[in-house]
Amino acid sequence: MTSQVYYERHQSLAVIRINNPPVNALSQSVREGILHALEEALADDRISAIGLLCEGRTFIAGADIREFSQPPQAPSLPEVTNAIEASEKPVIALIHGTALGGGLEIALASHYRLATKGARFGMPEVNLGLIPGAGGTQRLPRLVGVPLAIEMIVHGRKIDAEQAYASGLVDEILKGDSLLQSCLDLCPSLTNIGVAGRRVSVRSIPKPVEALACLEAEESRMRASGAKRQAPVQCLRAIRAAVEHVFAEGARVERELFLECKGSDEHLGLAHAFFAERRAIKIPELAHANPEPIRSVAVLGAGTMGRGIAISFLDAGFPVCLFDIDQAALEKGLNAISKHYDRSVAKGRLSREAADNRIHGLNSTLNYDALSDIDLIVEAAIESMQIKCAIFKELDRVCRPGAILASNTSTLDIDQIAASTGRAADVIGLHFFSPANIMRLLEVVTGTNTSNTTKATAMALAKSIGKVGVLVGNCYGFVGNRILYRRLPEAISLVTEGATPEQVDRVMTEFGFPMGQFAMSDLAGLDVGYRAREERRQSGEEVPRSWLDVLVEHGRLGQKSGAGVYRYEAGDRRPKEDEEALRLIAAFREAQGVVPRRVEDSEIRERCLYVMVNEAFKILDEGVARCESDIDVVWNCGYGFPADKGGLMYWARKEGLPFILERIRSLYGETGLEQWQPARGLLAAVDQANFDATTSSTG
Ligand code: 3HC
Repeated sequence: MTSQVYYERHQSLAVIRINNPPVNALSQSVREGILHALEEALADDRISAIGLLCEGRTFIAGADIREFSQPPQAPSLPEVTNAIEASEKPVIALIHGTALGGGLEIALASHYRLATKGARFGMPEVNLGLIPGAGGTQRLPRLVGVPLAIEMIVHGRKIDAEQAYASGLVDEILKGDSLLQSCLDLCPSLTNIGVAGRRVSVRSIPKPVEALACLEAEESRMRASGAKRQAPVQCLRAIRAAVEHVFAEGARVERELFLECKGSDEHLGLAHAFFAERRAIKIPELAHANPEPIRSVAVLGAGTMGRGIAISFLDAGFPVCLFDIDQAALEKGLNAISKHYDRSVAKGRLSREAADNRIHGLNSTLNYDALSDIDLIVEAAIESMQIKCAIFKELDRVCRPGAILASNTSTLDIDQIAASTGRAADVIGLHFFSPANIMRLLEVVTGTNTSNTTKATAMALAKSIGKVGVLVGNCYGFVGNRILYRRLPEAISLVTEGATPEQVDRVMTEFGFPMGQFAMSDLAGLDVGYRAREERRQSGEEVPRSWLDVLVEHGRLGQKSGAGVYRYEAGDRRPKEDEEALRLIAAFREAQGVVPRRVEDSEIRERCLYVMVNEAFKILDEGVARCESDIDVVWNCGYGFPADKGGLMYWARKEGLPFILERIRSLYGETGLEQWQPARGLLAAVDQANFDATTSSTG
């Protein structure tokens, strides 16, 4: 066959065995190997059925995404799926791990599907800006019905073996672990099944009237949401084609839409984001460091952040001890966690049993000494160096040698925190993002003396709790907040000069952020930043006053007080433009002697985004981030940067670094402000781009 596909004969069963680590993606040689093996099985009179199974940790996880940037090579995946379905001998897909995308399409083209108990199924193409392109949008609705097909194809929802069995996606769930033995056991009965009746493509859509209604409801929901991504729309179009046409015509429509998506910027951006996340966890300096096992976790601080962090660990199966020095705060925290799980049960996201298991994994203490055996302690107290140092001093006293002492600080100096202990090698920052149980980013902040073992343990831990860990250096705000803290003053200045907050936020949401800068500030609470600015002023730093300070001084603290930059109606989190805020802003301008001018949307877009790009290059200059794609991951996973644009740095390169630099230089010339002083790395990147352009035009 090929080096990734093996053909075996077990009595009358032919086995096509795929071995293409790590996830058995359908690269060209796998596609070719499957076709050759199939031909051999069909030509062999001794064979009456064909099993298709994978080596390693999973069934086929999809097409090989890396091949999408190259010219297509035969055979195409639809050729393979169509050949499987056309086989006159039954093909049995033997599924373990995850059957995703093209992998699920191979299973759907097979005549029988067997799965292990732990198997999962999904069509995640939409997350890559694609649609399933090998018959998936046509076969899945025919097999499981349109409503579930929409969930899986348009929303990328994965289902487990039980749901797959209940929906008819798999025919049997295996009791034992040996896929091959189960297949051999079933072989005599399967050979009697006529393949004709098992071909999904000739089935009609179940409950067609209901299917059409469901499709229409989803289409109007999508129109109303104003979502900008194309792939979900194309997924729906392809499913509609399955409802309205015979398979061959539907498959033609699907292929056309798939090829359109494959060439789109949306796909390129999302594929970049996918690989950037995987690159972030590959750290050469940690290649030989062995992560320590983490068996128990304590979270210090039962406030909002601490609760979210505790839930993240409980969800991943870690026993968690919640600590607070205040009995009432601790009880409030424990209740909130319990209520969170009750809500998950009520919404059908979790079974009662699973929720109870998680709640049983939680205990609590008011006493530092109870932390003496814990492997990892995550401090989530308020953002005060003094308080954090006092906590770490206590942790140093009580924790076992080798325990990891982590701080969830979002800005503060990890070295200073570490210096309050006698074990700086074990101290690290684990910066979770709010809500901590939902946001995928974990900034792993390394101090000067943090050991490689501690770093490797933290990165492995991030993966084990389903977060994307990004290793960053130590500076005020690290990577994410440091960039954010450049955008906020720019947005404030734009309003001082004459824009409205609503205009600035609209430009950001039109760019693709889920929320504008000021709506985000209102959500976080304006008083938080105000207090930090006041502290800096009191310590002698020159922090200019802005209209945002004025709003806070008028009791406008954001969503929590019903008014901040915007106004909020009871029970409604949507921001509404507010005359009173606009009046306060106008009065501030007047007091400052500023005559408001018309600010164009293009200026807002440039100033808010280019200031971030410049700061990102400074972060790279200082070695705080390891590479551009790590910055992309931080902003995609922690701050809602639209991932279909790839990430901040990927987008900046597409926008054109020479143009961005030109604007930055001109803003620096006009203002002389530090944030507009061009970063060395940006200058070097533009020099390189110019050099490349010259050599390619002369060469
Ligand atoms: N193509 C190429 N490489 C892939 C891949 C794919 N479809 N899926 C995963 N990989 C690679 C990753 O890049 C990574 O490589 P690396 O070790 O060199 O960094 C390696 O496989 C392991 O991946 P993960 O670190 O993500 O491993 P996990 O065990 O955490 O997750 C997974 C495994 C659930 C399979 C996850 O990798 C995943 O979700 N993959 C994407 C699946 C997908 O989107 N499939 C659809 C592809 S498009 C398609 O099929 C089109 C078709 O309809 C025509």
